[in-house]
Amino acid sequence: MMERMNKGERSVSRIVEIKTPGAIVFGVGACEKLPERIKALSNGAVLIVTDAGLVKAGTAKKIKDLVSSAGLEAGVFDGVEPDPDKENVYKCLEMVKSTGAQVLLGLGGGSSLDVAKTAAVLSVSEGRLADYVGINKVAKKGLPTVLLPTTSGTGSEVSPIAVISDKKQHLKLGIVSPYLYCDLAIVDPGLTVSCPAGITASAGMDALTHAIEIYTNKFSVPIIDAIELEAIRLIGRHLRKCVQDGTDLVAREGMSLAALYGGLGLGPVNTAAVHALAYPLGGTFDVAHGLANSILLPYVMEFNRPAREEKFAKIADALGTAGAESMSDKASAAVKAVVDLSRDVGIPKHMRDINIPADAIPEMAAGAMKVTRLLNNNPREMTLGDIEGIYRLAY
Ligand SMILES: [Fe+2]
Repeated sequence: MMERMNKGERSVSRIVEIKTPGAIVFGVGACEKLPERIKALSNGAVLIVTDAGLVKAGTAKKIKDLVSSAGLEAGVFDGVEPDPDKENVYKCLEMVKSTGAQVLLGLGGGSSLDVAKTAAVLSVSEGRLADYVGINKVAKKGLPTVLLPTTSGTGSEVSPIAVISDKKQHLKLGIVSPYLYCDLAIVDPGLTVSCPAGITASAGMDALTHAIEIYTNKFSVPIIDAIELEAIRLIGRHLRKCVQDGTDLVAREGMSLAALYGGLGLGPVNTAAVHALAYPLGGTFDVAHGLANSILLPYVMEFNRPAREEKFAKIADALGTAGAESMSDKASAAVKAVVDLSRDVGIPKHMRDINIPADAIPEMAAGAMKVTRLLNNNPREMTLGDIEGIYRLAY
């Protein structure tokens, strides 16, 4: 693969291939399109894959009623846990088999969408989940999937990636395959209104991490850069408002779009060192994915800044910072703008604030070092010592 044809200012980009879900239906009220769209996909029984919170909030019933109004049978698996593990996926799979479901409808945050995507693939194959971990290990398409996000963060609704935890081995397993693109993504910002402020904040910072890591990536490409820079602008404009007032549909729409843009860049470009360093926090200490990324983002940005000054300056502009004149000052202002946003939405600044023990740092650094599929994307090479140093700064 050619990253650049020459090292000078004038160079052509690498070849990129962009895949998307079968269809994306976006907008406030989009879930009302579910009956006609799902019927066009299959006449078979639907299993809604979600969590107990969305059942309690009435959201699962609302979606079930929409499926039923299309004349389709609808069951509910409400057992998705935060940062789901293999056993959680197998439980869902059992219900797919016992109900004879022909379509999986993921409703929720990234956890529910990832369980639906993974169970859909496993339901048509003999293999175990571990056989599919890695890149392009899935041999064929699974059952049709429909994804309805209720948070604005992971972008899983439009990505070819599912992340499943291995809690015994303290690992996060990434399954990456074009067969994980869903058949239909219905992104209705109205469904995110009930998302609590804390999750809105950490999910929103996860979306910001995606946009920044994709935009400043070693393998970035202009066609994706355009939407990621716009995602950064949207998050700068709308995240604070969503956290202050979850019912603001204009702000919610801005964040749904930003998360979707982030997700669209995950297939062709993907994330980098923030996600690699965040994995051990989730795997070992059960820190939620969005929160782990949010804490580490400014520190990794500071490390990467010298390698991407021009793009960091554009990030500063997108986040609406004013005052800095030189490119280098603007690049620093981008890091500060992210620190300010993180503080304003209530994200803790340090790992010690979430009770991570300091003596865990060497082991976490060794764990992060193994996430080569993401570290390879980072604009600056990271050694084990660099990673330890970043954890210590973030501590
Ligand atoms: Fe993420």
